[in-house]
Amino acid sequence: MALEAPRRAIHARTARAPGRSSPPDVPGGQRGRLGAAPAGPADHPLRPGDAPRRGRPRNGTRVRDALTRERIAVAFRALGLQAGDVLLVHSSLRSLGYVEGGAGTVVDALLDVLGPRGTLCVPTFVFSLTGQPRPVFDPATTPSEVGAISEAARRRPGARRSAHLIHSIAALGPAAEEITRVHGPSAWACDGPFWQLHHFDAKIVLLGVPYLRCTYFHVVEQLVQTPKRVFREIDARLRRPDGTLTPLPTRAFVPVPGWRNNDFNKFGALAESRGLVRIGPVGNAVTRVLRARDVVAHGVREYREDPDIFNWTDPEYTPLRDGVLAEAQFVEKAVYDPAQLSVRSGDGPAR
Ligand SMILES: CC(C)(COP(=O)(O)OP(=O)(O)OC[C@H]1O[C@@H](n2cnc3c(N)ncnc32)[C@H](O)[C@@H]1OP(=O)(O)O)[C@@H](O)C(=O)NCCC(=O)NCCS
Repeated sequence: MALEAPRRAIHARTARAPGRSSPPDVPGGQRGRLGAAPAGPADHPLRPGDAPRRGRPRNGTRVRDALTRERIAVAFRALGLQAGDVLLVHSSLRSLGYVEGGAGTVVDALLDVLGPRGTLCVPTFVFSLTGQPRPVFDPATTPSEVGAISEAARRRPGARRSAHLIHSIAALGPAAEEITRVHGPSAWACDGPFWQLHHFDAKIVLLGVPYLRCTYFHVVEQLVQTPKRVFREIDARLRRPDGTLTPLPTRAFVPVPGWRNNDFNKFGALAESRGLVRIGPVGNAVTRVLRARDVVAHGVREYREDPDIFNWTDPEYTPLRDGVLAEAQFVEKAVYDPAQLSVRSGDGPAR
């Protein structure tokens, strides 16, 4: 079945900041200083004629073939991802365009790139339990609520998952046990997986989602003890493998009443201007790669200069130079062509 016309819930705006010009392209559409040298355009899943132009949606064009495991892996390598890496991947499957085999194919491609020495981490966050009285979290069965790719990774044999009511992490690979074994009550504290990602010098991958979804920026907010958030205790329980329940102390770092929100695109745009982010296409998805250690080092430094660096202060979220910010199902995506966001389960490649 061909892709449908965009649904009404999808809208897009260009992400170019007024008056800002983009730096010149490097081969393959990549920028930034992370990892290996970028590959040439021929290595990209998008053909040269489809090459995205920054800041301009390619309305009316479509990825003509399904994205395969091999093509996705090539695109990830072109972004500097390599064997032995530790990754934290935030994702939107529909942002890629049609993927043959769906979410599992993306997980396969990531594992192909990482090889046996690398470790893939995904957020497997659960927001729906917090409204319940004495919620029960079961790492083995509670589904991820942050996307099909994260859920596919969580369900892989051998996946480990940390025990946190809201912000659990699932991991596959040799470092998975060490990263997920301990997750204290406060999600982003030094006793949990997020700080382990700092220890392992992890790369954060934003696959078709903007910085708005980059949870790692909360690590800095917690380090600097932002006055925009306060701790709230939640009386939760953990279901153990033998079925018994045990206390799962949870301290959520929640917004103070009346505070508007984060604008993580603001710090993301700054990180891009400092050359800390590698950017390029994986299919239709604008994909950004940055290091956890850079987020902490630069985030703390920038916070000292501007305590609003993570806060939403302008009328709109901070614009980003590459691609467009497009809403689908009321959540922002980072894509080159918003028309392709209409891909649905059961669709085939565009013709
Ligand atoms: C919320 C979010 C996951 C939604 O993204 P999405 O692409 O719409 O949804 P998923 O990633 O779950 O993918 C499922 C969608 O992919 C699309 N899809 C289905 N099969 C597909 C295929 N073979 N190829 C490509 N897309 C496909 C469909 O649109 C499907 O939605 P449907 O089940 O309603 O039809 C995403 O916007 C997001 O924010 N991701 C990051 C989340 C995160 O890490 N948050 C942490 C901080 S809060």
